[in-house]
Amino acid sequence: MPALAARMFHTSSLAATDVQDSTTDEQEILCYCEWLTRGEIVAAMPYVRSLKELRERTRACTTCFGCDADLEDLVALHADLFGVAL
Ligand code: FES
Repeated sequence: MPALAARMFHTSSLAATDVQDSTTDEQEILCYCEWLTRGEIVAAMPYVRSLKELRERTRACTTCFGCDADLEDLVALHADLFGVAL
């Protein structure tokens, strides 16, 4: 039974790590329709003034809208970047 307990503990530790990584990984695909990573979307934010302009520039969340909540979370996290390069 100790081996089972160790395996269960290890599994739950990995799950916590996966959750943290999924919210911070710049290379993670956010919009699968347009195959855009989180980093690509964040990189476009200084060149637009709003979420609407960000969608127009990157085409993020313009097809199935399945990534809408993730896109809004990402924008909320980096809202200070809007328009800084304009
Ligand atoms: S996954 Fe982003 S529009 Fe479909």
